[in-house]
Amino acid sequence: MISADQFRQVLGHFATGVTVVTTTNGDGRPTGLTASAFTSVSLDPPLVLVCVDHKSQSYPALLEHRRFAVNVLTTQHEDVSRRFATSRLDKFDGVPHRIGALGLPLLDGALAQLECVTVASHVEGDHTILVGRVEHARSGPGEPLLYYRGRYGRLSGAPQ
Ligand SMILES: Cc1cc2nc3c(=O)[nH]c(=O)nc-3n(C[C@H](O)[C@H](O)[C@H](O)COP(=O)(O)O)c2cc1C
Repeated sequence: MISADQFRQVLGHFATGVTVVTTTNGDGRPTGLTASAFTSVSLDPPLVLVCVDHKSQSYPALLEHRRFAVNVLTTQHEDVSRRFATSRLDKFDGVPHRIGALGLPLLDGALAQLECVTVASHVEGDHTILVGRVEHARSGPGEPLLYYRGRYGRLSGAPQ
């Protein structure tokens, strides 16, 4: 067995984009977390997945609400990414957002947004894989925020 530290260190060599996955909790409060474990699953039907740590405070709401939105971040969102990577309750305070067609919080200026209905959840180890059917999706201008070896970065010469 490899150690958790070694596993994390090796996985850090896979460069990713960064998303904030949002939902609403039982009180109708917006909640969410920074997540890079996001990928497309199927074109027909349109499915995506996100992997959520069971220790995440957002996890119960994501599981129970059975809807989530994926907000793909730009280089303008580095502070937002740091903010949503903490377990504070007021994450949305001062972060411009609107409520989308599925009642989910959508962050202003996101590079892409996908509004999803959860169609399956699979517990695997200490995470749950949430599979979402994409009901609404849009993209906008901007440069993608990247994450590599524990640090934020950007593409050089990124197309606009
Ligand atoms: C770049 C980056 C990517 C992350 N990706 C994930 C992820 O895919 N899944 C996850 O559960 N946590 C991920 N995290 C950690 C969560 O954002 C962090 O645990 C956060 O505090 C959870 O917030 P919550 O407890 O309020 O839900 C990531 C953190 C960073 C900085």
